[in-house]
Amino acid sequence: MQPADRDGAQADEPIETTPARFGALTRRGALLGIGAVAGVAAVDVGGFAYAGGWLGSSGPDDLTPPRFADRFEQVYGRHDGFRRNHAKGLSATGTFDSTGAGAAVCRAAVFRAGSVGVVGRFSLGGGLPDQSDKPDTVRGLALLFDVGGGQQWRTAMINFPVFTDSTPEGFYERMLASKPRPDTGKPDPQKLAAFLDRHPETVAAMKVIKQLPPSAGFADSSFHGLNAFWFTNSAGASVPVRWSVVPQAAGGAAAPPISVGKDYLFDDLIRVLAQRPLTWRLVLTIGEPGDPTNDATKPWPASRRTIEAGSITITAVQTEEAGNARDVNFDPTVLPDGITASDDPLLAARSAVYARSFSRRAEEPKSPSEVNVRQVLS
Ligand code: HEM
Repeated sequence: MQPADRDGAQADEPIETTPARFGALTRRGALLGIGAVAGVAAVDVGGFAYAGGWLGSSGPDDLTPPRFADRFEQVYGRHDGFRRNHAKGLSATGTFDSTGAGAAVCRAAVFRAGSVGVVGRFSLGGGLPDQSDKPDTVRGLALLFDVGGGQQWRTAMINFPVFTDSTPEGFYERMLASKPRPDTGKPDPQKLAAFLDRHPETVAAMKVIKQLPPSAGFADSSFHGLNAFWFTNSAGASVPVRWSVVPQAAGGAAAPPISVGKDYLFDDLIRVLAQRPLTWRLVLTIGEPGDPTNDATKPWPASRRTIEAGSITITAVQTEEAGNARDVNFDPTVLPDGITASDDPLLAARSAVYARSFSRRAEEPKSPSEVNVRQVLS
């Protein structure tokens, strides 16, 4: 028997990822109530049947969602009310205008020509809600497409072209191996080297990531879903897909940051959006036989067919607070009919750990967000 974790569950007991407690139907039912984001905290655990074989085990050293959530706290400290990862963020709202071209590969209503509302969140990777903005820190864009009929499509993307880890275990280990030492502020070189020796896939991914330097800010950044999903069209044909959002203005000279200081990336975004909306193209990349669907560290060949599915226009941002994207769990396995999760082991882990992070933060006292729209615009 394991000691009870701080969520009050036994670390080795089956948790909310088990179908018995949150089967697909129950979960879909829970989602029905949250077309409007307000009040989602109570129901939006998003915890899910999609255990994918990762979480059913019970050995003393097995990786479980509470242990994963604890690892974020071990590395970043505990910050009540904030996400365990991507803690620093800004809520956003806008629309998705579908070209209709995505319907060739996916029967989801969101790909029919037309427009739906989106709720988004811009973020920086890591569990520190008040970290200083830096160009190299991973940037996130999460989106919730409200596709109607009780269905939603949620995705959490980053500005890296591949992910650093192919398995949840790799991510879990890497976080500790790259934890800054209090005396140097840098990771312990021996621990990091030992990790990289054991994880050549991370070394290879980091090479790919370094080839694509980060853009100046959020507004001119692409964001990538990285995990593969299966898309099924109305004729029943399925293809593997990865998606990205690409800034419509991409290609021109990147505007230099206009803000200075700790929150300059977010402040710039707030200032630009006060002047004009920002648009990203949603690009679907269609995999071919042999393209890995279970390894987000490996890029697919650049020659793959792409589909311009539409454009996402962010019209406004809001300081994180009750009722906006602060209270959404951007679980990437919340998908409309026509999209299903692939065999990528990260997806099951993401769903389970996001749910654990969400349920912890939903119960904790809240502090104001570091990023404050009114202060920036005053
Ligand atoms: C095993 C793999 C992963 C784990 C354990 C993990 C863990 C987490 C956790 C705990 C959160 C906070 C969730 C919340 O409280 O709502 C989070 C947020 C986020 N993650 Fe991951 N993550 C993983 C992989 C990824 C990947 C592959 C991507 C990009 C494709 C990604 C992008 C993001 C983004 C953008 C957010 C912020 C979402 C938001 O604004 O709510 N993560 N992650």
